[in-house]
Formats: sequence, structure tokens, C-alpha cells
Amino acid sequence: MGSQDLLNKIENIITERGTDSYLGEEVTMEQHMLQTALLAETEDGSDSAIAGALLHDIGHYSEAFAEDALEQGLNNYHEDSGALILEGTFPEEVVASVKFHVSAKRYLCATDTNYFNCLSEASVHSLKLQGGPMDKHEILEFEKNPHLELCLKVRRWTSQYCRDWFKR
Ligand SMILES: [Fe+2]
Repeated sequence: MGSQDLLNKIENIITERGTDSYLGEEVTMEQHMLQTALLAETEDGSDSAIAGALLHDIGHYSEAFAEDALEQGLNNYHEDSGALILEGTFPEEVVASVKFHVSAKRYLCATDTNYFNCLSEASVHSLKLQGGPMDKHEILEFEKNPHLELCLKVRRWTSQYCRDWFKR
């Protein structure tokens, strides 16, 4: 897919699906995407951070999995399908921040009890399906990721329920 085609596809997704509820939470998908991107713009400002934050959940729109997979108790691996959509068009660090935003959640839940404590109910549910908090070996492996810092930043921005804690 060419760059312009991909941008058109992303625009179509936001236009057609943006008003969907964000996984049963109180915000819509579009609000979740824009809130996350706005935090990235405010707190980092780099194009890669903003793009990763905006597009981290784009894989929920992959046709490879049923849209209600998470509700059905199935992991939809939306981080992998999202990265596949962006690969080859977006910079490596943007693709990484999408591909590893679930790993970053599992990492933060294992290393920062404050992060785990402020997850929403839906996020705790999906954490179980995604393998739960990382074990020690997984933590050490993940810390080798060359894009670790951006992955963790994007992850924290996605957790808008943690805003008070994140701001301290
Ligand atoms: Fe996600």
C-alpha cells in the first residue's frame, strides 16, 4: 500500500469508526486516539511520538480478528496487526511504539504498582488476555528494545485514567 493510500485508509477508519465506543469505556475511539496524541504533542512534541500515540490502536480495525474478540475473551493481538498496517510507511520507532504498546503495559504493570492500580476495568481484563504482567526474564528482554523509552511514553499517554498520577 502506498503512503497516500495508507493515509486515506487511516482517515476513513477515523471518519467511519471514530464514534465507536473505546472497548466499552466512556470515550469513543476517536476521543481515545486524539486524547493520547494530544498528550504526546504536549509532553514530547516529536512527530514520532504524536504518530505512535494517535495510531497505537489502529490494529483494532484489522480485518484479521473479530471486533469483539476482547469481549469474547480472546486476545486480538491488535498491536501486531497495527504494526503491520504501518510498517514500510511510518518510521521504525513509530511502528515499534505501536507494536510494543501491549508489551509496555505488561512491563509497566510488573515494574510500577501505581501504573497497575490506575488501569481501568477493561484494561485489567485485557491485561489477563495479553499474558499479565511481565516476569523477570521478559522485563530484561524488553529493556533491550531500542525504542523502549518511546514505547513506555506512548503507553502512559494511552492511559488517560492515570492522568492525575501521570502528572505528579
Ligand atoms: Fe491497545
